[in-house]
Amino acid sequence: MSGAMRSMFSVVTRREQPKAPDPMALLSSLPVPVVVLGPENRFRYANQAAENFFSLSNAQLTALSLNDLIPHDNPIFQLISQVRTADVTISDHDLNLESPRIHKHGITVQGSPLQDEPGAVVLTLQDASAVRALDRQLTFRSAARSVTGMAAILAHEVNNPLSGIRGAAQLLEASVGPADQELTVLIRDEADRIRDLVDRMEIFGEKPVERGAVNIHRVLERVRRLAQSGFAAHIHVRESYDPSLPPVFGNRDQLVQVLLNLVKNAAEAITMSDAATHGEIVLTTAYQHGMRLAVPGSQHRLHLPLVVSVRDNGPGIPEDIMPNLFDPFVSSKASGSGLGLALVAKLIADHGGLIEVDSRPGRTEFRLHLPMMQEDSADGN
Ligand SMILES: Nc1ncnc2c1ncn2[C@@H]1O[C@H](COP(=O)(O)OP(=O)(O)O)[C@@H](O)[C@H]1O
Ligand SMILES: [Mg+2]
Repeated sequence: MSGAMRSMFSVVTRREQPKAPDPMALLSSLPVPVVVLGPENRFRYANQAAENFFSLSNAQLTALSLNDLIPHDNPIFQLISQVRTADVTISDHDLNLESPRIHKHGITVQGSPLQDEPGAVVLTLQDASAVRALDRQLTFRSAARSVTGMAAILAHEVNNPLSGIRGAAQLLEASVGPADQELTVLIRDEADRIRDLVDRMEIFGEKPVERGAVNIHRVLERVRRLAQSGFAAHIHVRESYDPSLPPVFGNRDQLVQVLLNLVKNAAEAITMSDAATHGEIVLTTAYQHGMRLAVPGSQHRLHLPLVVSVRDNGPGIPEDIMPNLFDPFVSSKASGSGLGLALVAKLIADHGGLIEVDSRPGRTEFRLHLPMMQEDSADGN
């Protein structure tokens, strides 16, 4: 299209009044089933979504009444007659529309009187599972906005082009001279380094992990050894274990990561305090009988009898960060990432566990409540 044509069109459109869409076209493009019933519940109109809903064409439907399709004792008829008598909009959730030809469950029905048409009722029939799917999508979208969701998406998006780059460098390597090979090797190594970084980031994502019986004492032993040979070499680490503790139901590597983060924070807190007190970290395990924790907003009770705690005698958590302690990027350290506790919280939540914290100057304790391997299903949940 030439430039002149384009500008001519734009002049025309600017002069045109915005036209209201044809109401029938609008109704038929709505994804929600909409029907209009006459005074005898006869179908007067059905949009396309309603045709799909009932698996009947508009023409077939208008030859029928709703009573032909749904047993007369269905609560939908009560709703319709209430709309007529009260002349108001009424909605009902979770209705089941069951008949030999219709099997719809969990339908949200909304009925409104049709203006200027006595006895006529407009019904919308929304499949609640579609609403739930939408809900999930929205949660996913807001989750994607969170750091963890972003990390997962980024990791995924970076890994694909990266393997392309790596593969291309490898191909080049075979055909270039030794001087240039140095460069292709560099590309490969650096690509590997990015991949490792991204993999580490992906821990925040929703990758499924394997869970099984984990001996938490072995996990703690490993964390203690790592700590004492590195960042906590100068700090006394005391252990107070219940040797009969049953295995945790979880993922060993993730539990190492969780405890390493907690012990590292404890060591850093002790190191930062210039108090002359001897720094000490205490690792504790215990079995808590009959521990049941209510899950907010649900009937469920979590059975989390295993308690693992990391305590230190450092200066305590700064009061101002306490409310957002587990949020990403919350840190009181000059070069802190603020991601440690965010990761801990995420991994513990993935385990179906809980984390509690108590802190005051001289005593800070993080307590993990974890599920055990053999859930006794006889005690109900
Ligand atoms: N044991 C502890 N004692 C005192 N403060 C702590 C302790 N553990 C965590 N914190 C506080 O919580 C903040 C967030 O910790 P974290 O998420 O691991 O990030 P980072 O260690 O990178 O700062 C720390 O900066 C610190 O202020
Ligand atoms: Mg940390």
